[in-house]
Amino acid sequence: MNQSSSHTFSGYTNVPTASQALKYQLSKDDYKIPEPSSKNLKRIGSLDQTTFVEVGTRLSLVVISLLRYMGLSLSPESKILDWGCGCGRVLIPLSKRLKVQLYGCDVDETAIAFIKANLPNINSFVSGYNPPLSIMDKYFDSIYAFSVFSHLPEKEEASWLEELVRITRPGGVLLLSVVGKRSLEIQQERGSNMGVTWKDVEREGFIFKENPIHRKDPERWPGVTGNYGLSVHHPDYIVQEWGKYFTTIKIVEAGAGGQDIIMCTH
Ligand SMILES: C[S@@+](CC[C@H](N)C(=O)[O-])C[C@H]1O[C@@H](n2cnc3c(N)ncnc32)[C@H](O)[C@@H]1O
Repeated sequence: MNQSSSHTFSGYTNVPTASQALKYQLSKDDYKIPEPSSKNLKRIGSLDQTTFVEVGTRLSLVVISLLRYMGLSLSPESKILDWGCGCGRVLIPLSKRLKVQLYGCDVDETAIAFIKANLPNINSFVSGYNPPLSIMDKYFDSIYAFSVFSHLPEKEEASWLEELVRITRPGGVLLLSVVGKRSLEIQQERGSNMGVTWKDVEREGFIFKENPIHRKDPERWPGVTGNYGLSVHHPDYIVQEWGKYFTTIKIVEAGAGGQDIIMCTH
């Protein structure tokens, strides 16, 4: 793997179909899904079942649009992993729309138990806070992760990027969300930015702040055995640092509603 990078950020990528997906009108059918416990909803930051369905459905459509945009052709044999899937917010609606082999893993065994009980067709398993995963090299055609790199420190992020590259086939596509400028603004409006401002991020490139609730209440995020909090990424940092692992990096600003989506191939 190339360990030095001279890539520079050349601007955000606009994918109109992804913004359309975020405005998708939901049908009655979209709401007909299994209901996670309120504890499971809280752990992924979802207010209630309605928000769970609406955010998950829209993000599942964003995944489909972005994979298309990146030119990934899918067949029933294609394998897609939702890394840090929680209780299936995106996996559940995606399974209604994509005829591929879906996988999901998370450190939270209660979330995986929910998926196993309700969605036996999804290959779900509990994973560790640190790599590796028990998965063969180049196994997946695509991996996506929403709001996982938004919480991990820099060292863990680097080791997971290397691991996710290992298990994705060359030419496969990764869609990884991070907290960027827009998402930090939203957090600031809610008072959950932990004192981090975009000026700090412009200076530092990457900032991680431990969430004090995580230390006080180990039951809050089961399976999270290491540091956990708010991680904020500047696009220059992504291009420089993630450029060590990937050959293509495109950033969709606020592509996940608030968080930026990094589309990468290697
Ligand atoms: C904010 S939630 C997002 C869940 C899901 N991606 C979604 O969009 O609904 C973050 C998830 O990451 C999981 N997580 C935290 N650290 C992880 C790690 N090192 N490996 C895999 N999952 C992790 C948490 O258990 C939690 O389910």
